Amino acid sequence: MSRLFLNGDIKDLRTEVLEVLSQNFQIHTSSDSPLIVKEGRLVFLSSQNWQVCVNFYTSETTYMRQSTLGKKQPLFRALGIGKGVNRVLDATAGLGGDLFKMACMGFEVVGYEREPSVYALLLDGVIRSRIQAQEADDSEMLDIMSRIDVRWGDASRLDKLDGIEAIYFDPMFPHKSKGALSSKEIQALQSLCSDYCWEDQVEEFQRLQSISNAKRLVVKRPLKALAFGDGVNHSYEGKSLRYDLYVLN
Ligand SMILES: C[S@@+](CC[C@H](N)C(=O)[O-])C[C@H]1O[C@@H](n2cnc3c(N)ncnc32)[C@H](O)[C@@H]1O
Repeated sequence: MSRLFLNGDIKDLRTEVLEVLSQNFQIHTSSDSPLIVKEGRLVFLSSQNWQVCVNFYTSETTYMRQSTLGKKQPLFRALGIGKGVNRVLDATAGLGGDLFKMACMGFEVVGYEREPSVYALLLDGVIRSRIQAQEADDSEMLDIMSRIDVRWGDASRLDKLDGIEAIYFDPMFPHKSKGALSSKEIQALQSLCSDYCWEDQVEEFQRLQSISNAKRLVVKRPLKALAFGDGVNHSYEGKSLRYDLYVLN
């Protein structure tokens, strides 16, 4: 069983969070861990003392889902919005910025995250946001949260994906990139996933191409970067990013 190091009193976490974490990890407490249990939440604390936690229920995300998201955005067009694609595998869930947007647009999203600390932050955010929506009796937000399912593990090692129609792959960039996350969130991810290796990600991309059933594989790239692999069928461009579509099967 993999180990997860948390700093603080784990009993302060939500029971629902602790239950799922204990099923997947041996949890140890360590004052060296940057994952702090604070006021009932899991928080990443950087060496410069700033903090990041996952929360989908904020005034910014409410504004985003009500005002700025739209079907014409390149990510959703690449995934096949309006073309019968309902269920998406987010193979690189990270802190959930992209998967939350997908769920807001009506996709059912299964998000995989293989780095235990990142998964713990994400799970904590998903469960707390769901509870907040219940407490606020916010049916629209509850509907969105009901479409999100986050799991721990390496998505490229899955051999069966029932009902998955599209796969989304957002590899770690060797440099800063723009996207669904703030710069602090990107720095937190880079710090927690410091042992990622470019060659491994190319192999993961190749394995994802052969997962049965999925019709589309979408890879996020900086606008001017080379494609991750041969055979891009179409690129959907934004201001600083593009989404390369590989049509499968
Ligand atoms: C660039 S970040 C993704 C950011 C994400 N799109 C977001 O909006 O928060 C890449 C994340 O994917 C994870 N990852 C990379 N390869 C993976 C795989 N094969 N299976 C599961 N997670 C993976 C890394 O640990 C890292 O947290």
